[in-house]
Amino acid sequence: MLATAQRMVVPFGTISIPETSRERIGEILQTKRVSSGKYVRMFEQKFADLLGVKEAVALSSGTDADILALAVLHDYGARRGDEIILPALSFVATGNAVLHAGFKPVFVDIDRRTLNIDVNQIEDAVTERTRAIMPVHLMGKPADMNPILAIARRHGLEVIEDAAEAHGAEYQGKPVGSLADMAAFSLYVAHIISTVEGGIVTTDREDFAEVLRSLRSHGRACKCRQCVLNSTQAHCPKRFLGGNGEDIRFVFERIGYSTKMNELEAAIGLSNMEIYREILEKRRQNLLYALERFSRFHPYLATIQEEAHEKIGPHAIPIVIQEEASFSRADLTHYLEENGIETRTLFASMPTQCAGFAYLGYREGQFPNAEYLGKMGIHIGVHQDLGLEEMEFVLQTISRFLEVHQR
Ligand SMILES: Cc1ncc(COP(=O)(O)O)c(C=O)c1O
Repeated sequence: MLATAQRMVVPFGTISIPETSRERIGEILQTKRVSSGKYVRMFEQKFADLLGVKEAVALSSGTDADILALAVLHDYGARRGDEIILPALSFVATGNAVLHAGFKPVFVDIDRRTLNIDVNQIEDAVTERTRAIMPVHLMGKPADMNPILAIARRHGLEVIEDAAEAHGAEYQGKPVGSLADMAAFSLYVAHIISTVEGGIVTTDREDFAEVLRSLRSHGRACKCRQCVLNSTQAHCPKRFLGGNGEDIRFVFERIGYSTKMNELEAAIGLSNMEIYREILEKRRQNLLYALERFSRFHPYLATIQEEAHEKIGPHAIPIVIQEEASFSRADLTHYLEENGIETRTLFASMPTQCAGFAYLGYREGQFPNAEYLGKMGIHIGVHQDLGLEEMEFVLQTISRFLEVHQR
């Protein structure tokens, strides 16, 4: 154990902006080619290579990555109102995305031990209108993908990973984001690879990637991996093939969105990726240090654990106040915040604790585990600007809290 920690400030998130991003941004501003172009394409290629997948399509947010991955299914026979199975507990963006893509969310409770969808309850939720399962790797802990993929195969469903919080996570030796038909990552500042705001969909399906590229730009007929017009301003041989002077950029093949990444964001993402391994290692060291020492808070507080078949993507330390505790979540969060430790709630049961979903008609009590976490869960940062001293400070602060508040 490290020495008793001095009072510290432990913010939730950070972003690394290495010098190379400033150089790239300067160059981009000089050329005035700031909308999606060659840097976005370079970023996509690097991201795809990192995961060992064929395609990556960059977008303006992780929410849009969820929405567009789902919207691809409309090109493959899905009808408006078809059903998507997802966990009841996630950041609300997952549920919002299902609705924005024109589908009906069908929620399944989570397993309190993993925070992820309870795989034993998925098959009961499958109906004739189910099109896909969307597991979320919450807090970077991989969802149990083998049973999920087996259920999908049995029923002819697609699987789309919500990997927003799971950069660097692995399941049975394979990177999260390469495990299913598509995966959606967030590149928001709180995440390991960041473009400030941003998102990216990964897939091995080249046809899915083409549809994604069309969807992100209004449903245009343009689907090239690298747009010659945007990246080099060279002649595009496909542009007027439609005849009658019709420009391919004004042929709209599907209902689209407007959600491209720009060059300045890609510049930050590219520089971030140059130091990705260091960021990942630092955050994993922080997370594992805290998780390994967490059992001292049993039976009052619980967290997740890394299992032999996986590597957790180090997003944050989730903390769940247990039934044995004689204090409230408010007591704990106020104490931590007063002591300089920023907290976030551990989300909510979307169908029963988020007002926007009330019209779907779910009732409180249908998702006991998700609802419990919605009332009793928090999470704390493990980012790369923190070290083991800060982790020790967090652990010691929690110990002091328990000494005072646990009767
Ligand atoms: C599980 C999950 N899905 C989706 C998103 C949406 O990402 P963004 O904030 O980039 O839109 C987030 C946000 O971090 C998330 O945690």
